[in-house]
Amino acid sequence: MRHFLNLIDLTADELNHLLTESARLKDAHSRRIPSHSLSGRVVGLVFEKPSLRTRVSFEAGVAQLGGTSLYLPGNEVGLGWRESLADFSHTISQYLDALVLRVYQHKTLDGIAQVSGIPIINGLSDWSHPCQGLADVLTVRELFGTEAGRTVAFVGDGNNVARSLAVGCGKLGMQFVLACPVGYGFDEKFKADYCKKVSPDFPKEINDPFPAVKGADVIYTDVWTSMGQEAEREERLKRFAPFQVNAELLSKASAQCKVLHCLPAHRGEEITDDVMDGPACAAFQQAGNRMHVQKAVLEWLLR
Ligand code: CP
Ligand code: NVA
Repeated sequence: MRHFLNLIDLTADELNHLLTESARLKDAHSRRIPSHSLSGRVVGLVFEKPSLRTRVSFEAGVAQLGGTSLYLPGNEVGLGWRESLADFSHTISQYLDALVLRVYQHKTLDGIAQVSGIPIINGLSDWSHPCQGLADVLTVRELFGTEAGRTVAFVGDGNNVARSLAVGCGKLGMQFVLACPVGYGFDEKFKADYCKKVSPDFPKEINDPFPAVKGADVIYTDVWTSMGQEAEREERLKRFAPFQVNAELLSKASAQCKVLHCLPAHRGEEITDDVMDGPACAAFQQAGNRMHVQKAVLEWLLR
């Protein structure tokens, strides 16, 4: 039984396989080639937090592959408080073929996956966002022909999205630089458990965005206040203000540099309108890729 909880759990070969399949599925979708690979399969989506891209791209992707999806709001399911994670998991494993979960706490995913009879897919937790990380690398591959050797400068919070992207980069031969305020970088456990195994100086972490973007192929940003951190918003707005991705910062990167954002964007905070709507930004191509990579993940888990 395989799950898709963290990119750390996949080998480089497995990531490459998923990226190749994502490109194939994207091409088939553009040419309207029908698929029935998930015919008769039912995929559940349990979301404790809001979503546009993850929910809709999973539901549309499942439909395109001939399957059915079922959306279950987290407050109706009551993971861990209406019933135990194990009782939930034992029950739902008998109805569904796979389950996508968006949760506040990553340990909720682990608790469900431990006893699950069906594949569990992480649709975002406080720890990681592997579907996003996979779509991000696919987008870099499309933009530059190959991802190996490219440098991503993540300007912002060392959060779930940054962690998954750093892992994707580390596994696929890319450089990753995190530019963040002091105290908002990667935690020591992540660095010890994963980063230091890539190389002793992976990733680079600096507290100034300007040197970080010099020589970068991609500038990446995400919201400064993630879902679940709303109480910290005022403090974060102050601390992250020097880390805005704007025209001045972009001018310090090379002319070929692209800008990515997992979305939703808080325009005027982590990114300005002119950069979001400008020629360097590929955030909507990136958002579109979410659906293709998730179709590849579903086919891989349910093969
Ligand atoms: N990037 C992303 O996961 O978007 P949603 O929160 O809209 O799903
Ligand atoms: N870091 C953000 C990503 C949203 C897709 C959050 O967790 O809210």
